[in-house]
Amino acid sequence: MRIVFLGAPGAGKGTQARLLAEKHHIPQVSTGDILRAAVREGTPLGVEAKGYMDRGELVPDQLMIGLIRDRIACEDCVKGYILDGFPRTLEQARALDEMLASVGAPLDVAIDFHVPNEELLRRLTGRRVCRSCGASFHVVSAPPQHDGVCDHCGGELYQRADDNVETVSKRLEVYTAQTAPITGYYRQRDILHEVDGTRGIEEIQAGLEHILMGVSGAK
Ligand code: AP5
Repeated sequence: MRIVFLGAPGAGKGTQARLLAEKHHIPQVSTGDILRAAVREGTPLGVEAKGYMDRGELVPDQLMIGLIRDRIACEDCVKGYILDGFPRTLEQARALDEMLASVGAPLDVAIDFHVPNEELLRRLTGRRVCRSCGASFHVVSAPPQHDGVCDHCGGELYQRADDNVETVSKRLEVYTAQTAPITGYYRQRDILHEVDGTRGIEEIQAGLEHILMGVSGAK
């Protein structure tokens, strides 16, 4: 199954993508994670992307389209994948469709998570992420058992450089202007499903399974 996760920063895309990937044995392709790894390693992609990410802006389309083209051509994507954080502009959405049409493997479903801005701001400014396994925690609503330590793998928890109030506000502005319009594109193609992202993590997960069963049953 080829799945796209849409939704504002902090809407829960990464949390749900990780759960779904584990259950369905397909990779979570997170462009944010790929870019952060490139920044850490100081690769040419990382050097170019860092300024945009620190400012809360989008990395240029041509870089992102090339990155996704290479990633979904990998062996582990043959049976499907979850795109978490791509596409983020109409140009990226169209380029993705073109590359998938050329191999006869179109998207099956696009899922859009809805969460109000004040909750997004609360989630992101309190988020802590594991450096080793990528699991997310929240200092108030989902704290780890031991301060600064991942419950799952014992890795160190850190706060992302773009999870401060100023950068989060910019990311939300950029989302509204450049990414939110993509939902109309997928609605027209009749593959869009909208999800209330304010519910509990397990309830959302169950809702996603229901959507995916409907999609695979209709194929
Ligand atoms: P990216 O890493 O993709 O960040 P994002 O879209 O801003 O999304 P987040 O990871 O912040 O949020 P999420 O929806 O995954 O939420 P999460 O599950 O973690 O991108 C970062 C930057 O990279 C961009 O700003 C841009 O510069 C660049 N970039 C990436 N892709 C690009 C592209 N395609 N084009 C151009 N530039 C690109 O959850 C958040 C918090 O909420 C966590 O603490 C979690 O525990 C909690 N939580 C999750 N679900 C729930 C729930 N149901 N109830 C309560 N709390 C919850």
